[in-house]
Amino acid sequence: MIKIEKLKKYFQVGSEKIEIFTNLSLEIKTWDFIAIIGPSGSWKSTFLNLLSWIDRDFDGKLEIDNQDISDLKDDEITKFRGKNISYIFQNFKLVENLTVWENVDLIVELNNLERNFSTDEILKIVGLSSKKDVYAFHLSWGESQRVAIARAFVWKTKILLADEPTGALDSKNKKIIMDLILELHKKIKNTIITITHDDEVAKLAQEIYKVWDGDIIKI
Ligand SMILES: Nc1ncnc2c1ncn2[C@@H]1O[C@H](COP(=O)(O)OP(=O)(O)OP(=O)(O)O)[C@@H](O)[C@H]1O
Ligand SMILES: [Mg+2]
Repeated sequence: MIKIEKLKKYFQVGSEKIEIFTNLSLEIKTWDFIAIIGPSGSWKSTFLNLLSWIDRDFDGKLEIDNQDISDLKDDEITKFRGKNISYIFQNFKLVENLTVWENVDLIVELNNLERNFSTDEILKIVGLSSKKDVYAFHLSWGESQRVAIARAFVWKTKILLADEPTGALDSKNKKIIMDLILELHKKIKNTIITITHDDEVAKLAQEIYKVWDGDIIKI
């Protein structure tokens, strides 16, 4: 369960204070699958960064499974995040000078995390077996996105955050990824929060939200 209470967030741009979330309260249950939609620049990625505690510069309360972020030290937050949250970043955040296989395998092996798949298995599912020894900087945009997806799914986490996970994919690969997301949701009963501009992806979700007037509301 993710619980957000009266979250406030603003950016300081020069002398101007831009208020983004003024009164954000939201509960997301353990087996929920929600989609967040909205135009470009409407603070969607900002919201995921708050949820994952990458951005900790906010007021209010954020709890994940009754754990309040403000009670944790920096290294504990990193550990907690690694164990509980996987994140498909909008800009993928691959390690450019590592291979496809190494990018997918690195975090799970370093932290000895519980797996959903072996690295070879997940690379086969996303259609990248033949590219496993290729360095990330040689990949196309769509291939990079599939590596980011493989990395997020290879280990078992309670929460999946996905920032436009199919934005760079053709329809065949999009279908493979949508099926994979649904299969894992059914099997490991994770919480899924995905940002999407794609109606087909949004329709997979149980509920659709949008950022509105300092809050996130169901539509
Ligand atoms: N640290 C910051 N300081 C000031 N403004 C910021 C900062 N980080 C992001 N922004 C601005 O916040 C706005 C919202 O950004 P965000 O990435 O959350 O939008 P988004 O809804 O994910 O958009 P898109 O659909 O294009 O991905 C943007 O205009 C961005 O420039
Ligand atoms: Mg974004």
